[in-house]
Amino acid sequence: AEGVAIPSQEWSFGGIFGTFDRAALQRGFQVYQNVCASCHGLDYVAYRNLEQLGYNEDEIKAIAAEKQVTDGPNDEGEMFERPAKPSDRFVSPFPNDAAARAANGGALPPELSLIVDARAGGADYIYAVLTGYQDAPSGVTVPDGMYYNAYFPGHQIAMPPPLFPDGVTYGDGTAATIAQQAKDVTTFLAWASEPNLEERKRAGLMTILFLLVFTGLLYATKRKIWADVH
Ligand code: HEM
Repeated sequence: AEGVAIPSQEWSFGGIFGTFDRAALQRGFQVYQNVCASCHGLDYVAYRNLEQLGYNEDEIKAIAAEKQVTDGPNDEGEMFERPAKPSDRFVSPFPNDAAARAANGGALPPELSLIVDARAGGADYIYAVLTGYQDAPSGVTVPDGMYYNAYFPGHQIAMPPPLFPDGVTYGDGTAATIAQQAKDVTTFLAWASEPNLEERKRAGLMTILFLLVFTGLLYATKRKIWADVH
């Protein structure tokens, strides 16, 4: 973003041994549901995927059933509304992009399920934007409906600051500072972008372990086969 350095954060899912912190994922989901979901969709995540966060079937059914989806046509050829099921994808806040723009002063809130992968800087960048709202430096005018953000490219963002201290009350008692909510929701969005990250890292580690052992075996075999050659 225009030469603005994005500060790096510690992420439980970073590095070769990285895993998702389940408690952070659940808190991040709580932030998404309570704060972000009124403007941003999560198009590629189904309610049943929340099982990976540690929710059980009944909890997932209840979470899904809070939203209505359009289904059909039924036997009479009509479309109808029904509560969402675990197999449905997350219900978008708006029926289409035009409606989303109309509700946001012309700006389009992007769907967030791939955002961590899609933006340069990944999780560090998302965290930076969420925590990067500041007063505009003197001499810089920010038009109505725009906000100054230290890390958004161009510094003028149409998203109002979404996070406030204690904007959510965490089920696990964690203090809901802006930084904490930003960290948690970013962790949740990183999971949404790559739900199989843990398997991928495990497979990589097993491959390296296997190659190390195999190298040792080959070396021992070579020594044995050539032992009598002087
Ligand atoms: C843009 C995240 C809440 C409206 C964005 C972007 C991200 C994001 C990552 C994209 C930045 C980029 O393009 O690089 C979040 C998260 C939220 C949240 C994690 C909850 C914590 C909201 C809410 C609204 C909103 C509640 C509506 C009131 C928008 C709009 C944009 C946007 C209009 C487009 C901004 C522009 O292009 O100037 N958001 N958002 N967001 N968001 Fe949010």
